[in-house]
Amino acid sequence: MAAPNPFEKQTSIPGVKHIIAVSSGKGGVGKSTVATNLAMALGKKSKVGLLDADIYGPSIPRMLGSLSQKPNINPETNQLEPITRYGIKLMSIGFLIEEGAAVVWRGPMLFKAMDQFLRDVNWGELDYLVVDLPPGTGDVQLTLAQKVPVAGAVLVSTPQNVALIDVKKAVDMFQRVNVPLLGMIENMAYMVNPVNGEKMQLFPKGEIDAYSASKNIPKLGEIPFNPSVGLACEAGIPIVEANSNGAEAQAFMAVADRIREILP
Ligand SMILES: Nc1ncnc2c1ncn2[C@@H]1O[C@H](COP(=O)(O)OP(=O)(O)OP(=O)(O)O)[C@@H](O)[C@H]1O
Ligand SMILES: [Mg+2]
Repeated sequence: MAAPNPFEKQTSIPGVKHIIAVSSGKGGVGKSTVATNLAMALGKKSKVGLLDADIYGPSIPRMLGSLSQKPNINPETNQLEPITRYGIKLMSIGFLIEEGAAVVWRGPMLFKAMDQFLRDVNWGELDYLVVDLPPGTGDVQLTLAQKVPVAGAVLVSTPQNVALIDVKKAVDMFQRVNVPLLGMIENMAYMVNPVNGEKMQLFPKGEIDAYSASKNIPKLGEIPFNPSVGLACEAGIPIVEANSNGAEAQAFMAVADRIREILP
């Protein structure tokens, strides 16, 4: 007898057009920064939600300056009302627990929490629901792929070969669970020299471009390294909002345009 297919239970979220997973194999490469700024950039022309799926290390409430917010529960529908910031609808475990408190759940609890974030939040009508995933290829990634039809995954990487090893694992995982790969974003790709405006390579350039070309994974864009990107997120005003004419914000806007072309 054939084993049951866990993906048969996939159901879409009513009103939500495209679910985009922002992922990386490796931790700390800028997924949350990219997810936040991408959501903001998409939000300039479209209706956007941002789900922080990093249950153990939520970053979205801080990055969007909404740490003190607590979502209401609609008594009629029993659904959580998302927090709205800069026109983006947000949900994160960080709104429900104290910052600094550890979440010590096992797999089944994670599964339940993800399910509630997808089904029991009043997302309303959205063109894009951007999901900020935790690092790695674990329970949360699989739960998302099993529960909802993900339109595509965006892989975030830094230029070095140490990141490439983990990118390959993420690509393998998404292919196994039939999630299309929208493309790769190279974060901290270069730095603009403030003295002469020249591009400087911060990290040794690995074979990521050659690898993604060999796998037909499009490059969606390159985001420069700039301390102001991190500072803006710390201050709760993402760089797309804080300095919308800067090279970094423009790089995010260009990625958003590409995604709109792929997923109209
Ligand atoms: N383009 C950039 N320029 C400067 N700093 C950046 C850039 N992108 C990310 N950072 C900084 O790098 C650090 C890690 O970023 P972030 O938290 O977004 O990574 P992550 O991949 O979500 O991490 P985790 O795996 O822990 O979830 C943060 O301090 C962030 O401000
Ligand atoms: Mg993160």
